Amino acid sequence: MSNERWRKRVLGDRRLAPETLMMGYGYDPFLSERSLKPPIFHTSTFVFRTAEDGKEFFELAYGLRQKRPNEEPGLIYSRINNPDLEMLEDRLVIWDEAEDNLVFASGMAAISTTLWAYARPGSAVVHSGPVYGGTDFLLKRILPQFGVNPIEFPAEGGTKAMEEAVDRARELAPVAALYLETPANPTNGLVDIGRARELADGLGGPEGRRTVVIVDNTFLGPLFQTPIAHGADLVVTSLTKYVGGHSDLIAGGCSGTTAALDPIRGMRTILGTMCDPHTGWLLMRSLETLKLRMTAAAEGARKVAEFLSGHPRVASVWYLGFLPEDHPDRPLFERQCKSAGSTFAFEVKGGEPEAFAVLNRLEVIKLAVSLGGTETLASHPASMTHSDIPHEEQLRLGITPALIRLSVGIENPDDLIADLDQALKA
Ligand SMILES: Cc1ncc(COP(=O)(O)O)c(C=O)c1O
Repeated sequence: MSNERWRKRVLGDRRLAPETLMMGYGYDPFLSERSLKPPIFHTSTFVFRTAEDGKEFFELAYGLRQKRPNEEPGLIYSRINNPDLEMLEDRLVIWDEAEDNLVFASGMAAISTTLWAYARPGSAVVHSGPVYGGTDFLLKRILPQFGVNPIEFPAEGGTKAMEEAVDRARELAPVAALYLETPANPTNGLVDIGRARELADGLGGPEGRRTVVIVDNTFLGPLFQTPIAHGADLVVTSLTKYVGGHSDLIAGGCSGTTAALDPIRGMRTILGTMCDPHTGWLLMRSLETLKLRMTAAAEGARKVAEFLSGHPRVASVWYLGFLPEDHPDRPLFERQCKSAGSTFAFEVKGGEPEAFAVLNRLEVIKLAVSLGGTETLASHPASMTHSDIPHEEQLRLGITPALIRLSVGIENPDDLIADLDQALKA
């Protein structure tokens, strides 16, 4: 879909910034009637010029031969490849500072396809907790049905808890992956990616593979955290959230080296968990404003968090920007994250009835799950996104009945503060 002219990332000596490249990287208008914007390639299949072409394209796609120097994979069938998805993947590579990327039908499709590609019966997956409710279900209820053993450690327990979990896993089984969600949904707990890398290097996966470090970067990615730069092999992101950014689509991505993505690519082709071209096109449009949206939302979130932290009806605010100087996670936050982002949770004084009273009174802020959109959303993790997790376990992970999660959008933050103020007076 493009030649090198449309994949230039420098201007003379100058490296072009990701937000600049989002306006057209990887797209050649002269291949598409000079259209400024890429068309949506709404097609299931692609016409081969010759049977020989078809044979060659399949050989490459199915790994039957090596790629030749500068060879572009030929378009075959939209479950295998599609120009909109390829352009989007090229652009996500830039944000994630990766070599390659694959896009999926949802964040869960990205996470599950990645784990299917690496976990094997009899292996273990060491993971941080809490993780998003769907991931928790996959790790603790679905993967064990296939003989994969999840071994959890609390993000709040710091590096020591991760090391102990790795020691337990080492005794039990080959460790397929260290799976980290950092910051964690909904507590914003942090996990040290660099330390996870060191620990993974001392382990071994099933079938002689290396133990991969997988990071769910949904909360801060791709703008405010680049896990690959800290040692992650694979970065999974729910593109439904900040990248999509308008609460109007569902998609996911996985970035890494081409070699690390290879088994995932094969798995995606066969499971059919790829993104569709229309969603891919919408995501490219969203990427053009990603930096503006995430920056504005992060600024608004700081103001809202400041308001909440001084409120008499609020018991605690779990906003990363407020980590005290002497908190053990402070140096990790400064090393690993470029911003506190705009999704955080706070506890009201009381329990579920008090939290529900606040949620039910909100007028500007919408009561809905999800995050990362232009509009501010509030939800109750214990009874909504994380309700699959047994109550005792929720409490252990910090998901209390009084906890409300806020994803701050790009409205005027003073309007959001006024809304929270009137709701908290309930
Ligand atoms: C941290 C995190 N990871 C993954 C997902 C799953 O993403 P999707 O809903 O796009 O499948 C979510 C969804 O809320 C999430 O918050």
